[in-house]
Amino acid sequence: MEYINNELHLGPKKKNLKSLTANYMRPIYVYDLDFIRMRFAAMSQALKNVRIFYAMKANPNPEVLRCLKEAGSGADVVSLGEIKRALENGFSPADIVYSGVGKTRHEITEALKLDIYQINVESLPELERIGQIAKEMGKKAAIALRLNPDIDIKTHPYIATGLRDNKFGMELSLVPELIRCLKSYAGSLELVGVSLHLGSQMLEFEGYKEALERLKKVFIALQKEFSSLQRFDFGGGLGIYYDRLDLAKEEAILKEYAEITLSSLQELNCDLQSEPGRWLLGHAGVLLTQVQYVKKTSEKTFVIVDAGMNHLIRPSLYEAEHLILPLDKKSEEGVFDIVGPICESSDFFAKDRKIAKVKEGDFLAVMDAGAYGYSMASSYNLQELPLEICI
Ligand code: LLP
Repeated sequence: MEYINNELHLGPKKKNLKSLTANYMRPIYVYDLDFIRMRFAAMSQALKNVRIFYAMKANPNPEVLRCLKEAGSGADVVSLGEIKRALENGFSPADIVYSGVGKTRHEITEALKLDIYQINVESLPELERIGQIAKEMGKKAAIALRLNPDIDIKTHPYIATGLRDNKFGMELSLVPELIRCLKSYAGSLELVGVSLHLGSQMLEFEGYKEALERLKKVFIALQKEFSSLQRFDFGGGLGIYYDRLDLAKEEAILKEYAEITLSSLQELNCDLQSEPGRWLLGHAGVLLTQVQYVKKTSEKTFVIVDAGMNHLIRPSLYEAEHLILPLDKKSEEGVFDIVGPICESSDFFAKDRKIAKVKEGDFLAVMDAGAYGYSMASSYNLQELPLEICI
């Protein structure tokens, strides 16, 4: 983003964001498809022959999905709703990896009917359930075991998934039982992969490296039992900076991540898969919102905007700090709490933040809201959902 003639412009094609507010009715998410293509190309190049399955929970907007499908991505999904959305937007069942800890009987049945490419299994009871259903249906399910190596990647506790006390994946000590279960359903379950996802917003790789080492050993041991095992899915989780835009540094981090992954896994001589979400979409979107009131109290000055935690929950839920910029550049600054209309004190975008001195009617852009923005929105307080525009 950059200011041109004092107005904020977005993306490689420098779209003037103000032009989108002409008939403004309510908050708008704006996504830049060129930027998404650019990031997908950068990631594909860095990861060489790895097959990318975009984690669509980050942003399941139909145009975004079509754009990534055209760019060559598959889809990582976590519900039947996401499967349906992916199929409606050009993905085929052979492009879909199905993750998630709580797959219902109905969801599993539908996934098997469709012959989904791979089901990432997260528990022994889930593996048994899939085995039974596949047997009843006369199907053979393509299974990847999501293993939990008990590794800390130093991220917010709500988005860490690779620790022993997280609900995700299966402990390595469970492997012998998993083998027994797979063998007892030999006609209905086919072990095709091992998968890993340690959590989100990962910016350093010590823990990740160790996790790859641990899982590599398990992979090799499992391959001795199951010759069908030929995929290693190393998950998503690559982080971005929210406090600054430094794309060059992020690409350098991507290279480091790719080198660690590829050099560690090359000896396995198998197909590699990845499930990124945030890295592709995070910087590609902004949330436009309008200032309703500037309210002064003895303690604070609140800038009350029409978007709230129901539109973008990341600051309330993870204390995430998104940059906030006015669409019209201002010469003066002030210190404000930027808050929404929702009846909760957790409804804020920033606290005691130095930003441009805005007034009623001005527009603000909450930056880096392309991932986990609209996809986590709700209509709490019966507020309308925001609009979405792709440019
Ligand atoms: N694969 C699996 C199995 C996942 O659970 C996730 C994210 C991903 C891949 C993609 O991770 P990413 O590359 O986007 O980090 N709402 C939180 C993030 C939750 C991530 C959930 N799982 C946030 O706004 O920070």
